[in-house]
Amino acid sequence: MPVITCVEDLRLLAKRRVPKAFYDYADSGSYTESTYRSNTSDLAAIRLRQRVAINVEQRSTRTTMIGQDVTMPVAIAPTGLTGMQWANGEMLGAIAAEKFGIPFTLSTMSICSIEDVASVTSKPFWFQLYVMRDRGFVRELIQRAKQAKCSALVLTLDLQILGQRHKDLKNGMSVPPKLTLANVIDLATKPAWALRALTGRKTFGNLAGHVKGGDGIVTLSQWTASQFDPTLCWDDVAWIKKEWGGKLILKGILDVEDARLAVAAGADAIVVSNHGGRQLDGAMSSIQALPAIVDAVGHQTEVWFDGGIRTGQDILKATALGAKGSMIGRAFLYSLGAMGEAGVTKMLEILQKELDVSMALTGTKDIREVGPANVILP
Ligand code: GLV
Repeated sequence: MPVITCVEDLRLLAKRRVPKAFYDYADSGSYTESTYRSNTSDLAAIRLRQRVAINVEQRSTRTTMIGQDVTMPVAIAPTGLTGMQWANGEMLGAIAAEKFGIPFTLSTMSICSIEDVASVTSKPFWFQLYVMRDRGFVRELIQRAKQAKCSALVLTLDLQILGQRHKDLKNGMSVPPKLTLANVIDLATKPAWALRALTGRKTFGNLAGHVKGGDGIVTLSQWTASQFDPTLCWDDVAWIKKEWGGKLILKGILDVEDARLAVAAGADAIVVSNHGGRQLDGAMSSIQALPAIVDAVGHQTEVWFDGGIRTGQDILKATALGAKGSMIGRAFLYSLGAMGEAGVTKMLEILQKELDVSMALTGTKDIREVGPANVILP
């Protein structure tokens, strides 16, 4: 077992352990992947301001997100097909997040269902909703999330239709895995994954009865094209807010005008996000978009960040530019694919340690005091 010291180590391990189709699904952006790459490269270009001779003995990364206490300002982002990185991955991720003291968000497109995750957690998790053409089904999902006592609904607004990810098409990505010759050969090199998969959940847990084909095998692009509602607009957001009646987080905001509309729609928090570079290729990186959105609406709602976080230094940079919280998607998936629940715990420990040490070296003791003075923009 290699010594794991950073998220990149977990990524490399996941790449070895997870079937290629699922690793590629997690680790790709749409089209040329330019936005996917700029999410990380634009974060890397920001410098942290080194300060010295300041007493930093007592430090804290604790804060709140929508009034909820968090060990550090991080939540697990909703990610599709998580249970294909490691059997029952959503349940394991939720357990690890709860133990660590940060929120876990379950995707509509998860393998484990809302009820599965509720059965292994004792604190509320968050549920992410996609708006389907079938509003009866949307209502049903909202009811199930209420029943499971989810404490926030994360409504994703940037995926009315799916941006094409070339690798998914080339790999014939489907759930459960399609047994092409290439996939069988690849699976033969990942026996531990295959063995675990035998006992794990295997198809979209929240979508029983809504996956066409009877046998449950469906490609993601086919399914989204047939089910997701391309007419989604702000009136629908108002309808969902009313149906849900609890804390509402609007995810996929990248533009100041949309941020204002999201506030007008009554968002308790907005997530500055380009869906991890998986949707509009050529869009701004999330960190590039963040400051103007914080300026425009940061006094009216909590602005969170999503897109490119791989280190605690990245969390510090996003926080310095005004994010009250950051969501982590790929860092979570790499860690899960590498080592299951233990991997997720390891990843959270790594991020917190990096955040804590970096805070100290910027002369900051309390995450709540981090601000623009901690960074130097390129
Ligand atoms: C779904 O959320 C995806 O980005 O594939």
